[in-house]
Amino acid sequence: MKFFIDTANFEEIKTANEWGILSGVTTNPSLVAKENVSFHDRLKEITALVPGSVSAEVVSEDAEGMVKEGKELAAIAPNITVKVPMTPEGMKAVHQLAQAGIRTNVTLVFSSNQALLAARAGATYVSPFLGRLDDIGHDGIHLISEIAEIFSIHQIDTEIIAASIRHPQHITQAALAGAHIATVPFKVLTQLFKHPLTDKGIEQFTRDWNSRTAK
Ligand code: E4P
Repeated sequence: MKFFIDTANFEEIKTANEWGILSGVTTNPSLVAKENVSFHDRLKEITALVPGSVSAEVVSEDAEGMVKEGKELAAIAPNITVKVPMTPEGMKAVHQLAQAGIRTNVTLVFSSNQALLAARAGATYVSPFLGRLDDIGHDGIHLISEIAEIFSIHQIDTEIIAASIRHPQHITQAALAGAHIATVPFKVLTQLFKHPLTDKGIEQFTRDWNSRTAK
């Protein structure tokens, strides 16, 4: 399973990119709104820094508008992926964008049938939202395994992005369930490094090293 970062914050992207673990970036209108910057300029900065897929979401609700926006976004850089919501108009747009050779990420996926529709429309990625399902008492991880199984049975090459990640446990579970990618908020990425025994081990090694008599 690969890591994408789920943010529009440039500093967070830069830091995670320096760790060498980053394969891509996802943004959404809420994340962009928090940044108070021009979407176009921010996408330019991000795509110049990260060579992998950078998802940029359309805000139109009709297919024509989505395709127009999608083409404008895709023209910003070759590594832009157009993020499209899971609606009938959205799938119409995904189909047209796929025919134009533009990669898409179908967002707001909450069922296996939605994932299958997205794949058949020609989506490059589907994004099932784990955390938002867990929030309403459903099992987000179960959805990932179901989609992974369906895609494997039917030899579908659309990649599964585990989205709406809330905590480190989601990462392990999504990897075991067969997600190809997890898109992770910066805070959760930093939590992945942490283990009390790692901290304790470093302290011990430093203490022992500094207590040598022959220096
Ligand atoms: C996915 O691409 C979305 O940007 C994101 O994971 C949504 O997560 P949230 O439920 O924390 O807003």
